[in-house]
Amino acid sequence: MRRLVREHQLAPDDLIQPLFVVHGTGVEREISSMPGVFQLSVDEVLDREVARVQALGIPAVLLFGIPASKDEIGSENFSEDGIVQRALRRLRAEFPDLLLLTDLCCCEYTSHGHCGVLQGEVVDNDATLDILGRAAVSHVAAGADVVAPSGMMDGMVAAIRSALDGAGHSDRAILSYAIKYASAFYGPFREAAESAPAFGDRRQYQMDPANLREGLLEASLDEDEGADLLMVKPAMAYLDVIRAVRERTHLPLVAYNVSGEYAMVKAAGRQGWLDERRVVLEILTGMRRAGADAIITYHAKEAAAWLSEDGRR
Ligand code: PBG
Repeated sequence: MRRLVREHQLAPDDLIQPLFVVHGTGVEREISSMPGVFQLSVDEVLDREVARVQALGIPAVLLFGIPASKDEIGSENFSEDGIVQRALRRLRAEFPDLLLLTDLCCCEYTSHGHCGVLQGEVVDNDATLDILGRAAVSHVAAGADVVAPSGMMDGMVAAIRSALDGAGHSDRAILSYAIKYASAFYGPFREAAESAPAFGDRRQYQMDPANLREGLLEASLDEDEGADLLMVKPAMAYLDVIRAVRERTHLPLVAYNVSGEYAMVKAAGRQGWLDERRVVLEILTGMRRAGADAIITYHAKEAAAWLSEDGRR
């Protein structure tokens, strides 16, 4: 009876696995605050991981690159030999059916760790748009299906759309991190992606957690600029935002279950303070109930495995 009247389903089909890619070979470095999450080199290490992801029925991965060297403008983000471009070429050839998403942000690539080009100590929004366009074209040329700009620059979706169309890539999609809050829940990610800002914080461009209406404005601007999918990030403390956006857009909506949310559950699970399996599936189901079509989550592999076990019962 419970199965018959269940209102919302969670399935491996709804999940996106984030991956951190580094240069070198044989590198498999666990993130201390994110047990079970690794920085991986492109050789068979990443291939093995992606094969597992695909075998579990997860349709998509989101790539983050950790560059060999950083500079003021984050050049490796749009270099043909960049780490993400190398990973994309390999994965595109070996996993033709897997949806490849890339995070477009500059912060992993810049020496100062901010999400754009600096003018003094301030991010120059419009100068950054040009860089994002170049990075998008470079990622797509290497095989990305979807680019995901996460820097919260005004006008980023329009700039990326016109850069992609201009380069003959009108068939590739943009997943906009449309509503991204200046959140302490990104703490562990900054270790994973080596992207902590060298000074200050990201409040010049990321949103105030107290604001909902501003988020709806951000979502509608990005929709008008041509976004194909919208994202709300983080997710657990922002389920009301997911619900509100869901009620106002017909675009697919993605929730990002971020690093700090993962770390909290893992920490409590390891202490034996929570039933991790039940808690993870409850959290992800809650995001679906709030209105998310898809969820980016570091739990993707274990959740997909648990869901298929449950399905067999
Ligand atoms: C890049 C970016 C961040 C995350 C995704 N893309 C970090 C940030 O904005 O500081 C966070 C993801 C997570 O915490 O899991 N700007």
